[in-house]
Amino acid sequence: MSQAITQLKASADYIRQQYPYPIHLATILGSGLGDLAETIPNAVKIPYSQIPFFPSSSVAGHQGELCLGEVRPGIHIAFLKGRIHYYEGHGMDKILYPLRVLRLLEAQILLVTNAAGGVNPNFKAGDLMLIEDHINLMGTNPLIGENIDELGPRFPDMSDAYTQNLRELTLKRAAALSISLQRGVYCAMSGPSYETPAEIRMVRTLGADAVGMSTVPEVIAASHMGMQVLGISCITNPAAGVVTGHHLNHEEVLEAANQAKASFSRLVQAILAEIPVQTLTHQSPTH
Ligand code: HPA
Repeated sequence: MSQAITQLKASADYIRQQYPYPIHLATILGSGLGDLAETIPNAVKIPYSQIPFFPSSSVAGHQGELCLGEVRPGIHIAFLKGRIHYYEGHGMDKILYPLRVLRLLEAQILLVTNAAGGVNPNFKAGDLMLIEDHINLMGTNPLIGENIDELGPRFPDMSDAYTQNLRELTLKRAAALSISLQRGVYCAMSGPSYETPAEIRMVRTLGADAVGMSTVPEVIAASHMGMQVLGISCITNPAAGVVTGHHLNHEEVLEAANQAKASFSRLVQAILAEIPVQTLTHQSPTH
């Protein structure tokens, strides 16, 4: 057994002691949605710093916390609060670590959200976008290095990284709630600088509708482990150069995410109320 899997199992064992249920859903929420975890009654919260081998974010004020609870009777959810970004200087193995631990705790589905710039000129700030596919322009791949065979194959297929039936469920729930939902391709860049207008023209030509600095590493890792994935972006700003004379700043991103929070939360809660999970037969690969 590799050292990597030994550490992952030690982390999983510690969490299982605090919360002795299989986890069905793993959730990583981007800017503006973090407090959805607060709606889970009697949630168990474990600071990342208490979990053996768990990474903690270097950014001040971003103390990581794992939040566990029931989203429906018998259906358990884990929120990874305190996302670690590549631009903070962490290695990809650190970014993927918490999700991999949740996989060892049986998680079958990853729900991931983020803030993103609108590359598609038809998008406006505040729109939500269902991620249908992605383009990885981070300059690396999170699975580079020795493959952890216990988790997944050396060359994982990415043909259906964003699970069709979860996308259909999301479109139906959005329509029922009268929440307008764009659809498109998310392009990941490393950041932390925002893109130049020339880079945005490039990614538009390549087929991107939105651009951001997260999500793709976790989605690749989830696919590698055979998980289903649902991804939703909140378009917080027109990407660089899309609107003439418009300049980007982080405050604008946070403000737009905050404004979209209510409809974003309603949509995610409606999805969580219905998302299909297997409760009987599933076993994770390491059991
Ligand atoms: N570019 C990259 N990441 C982002 C943006 C953007 O325009 N908006 C929010 N996150």
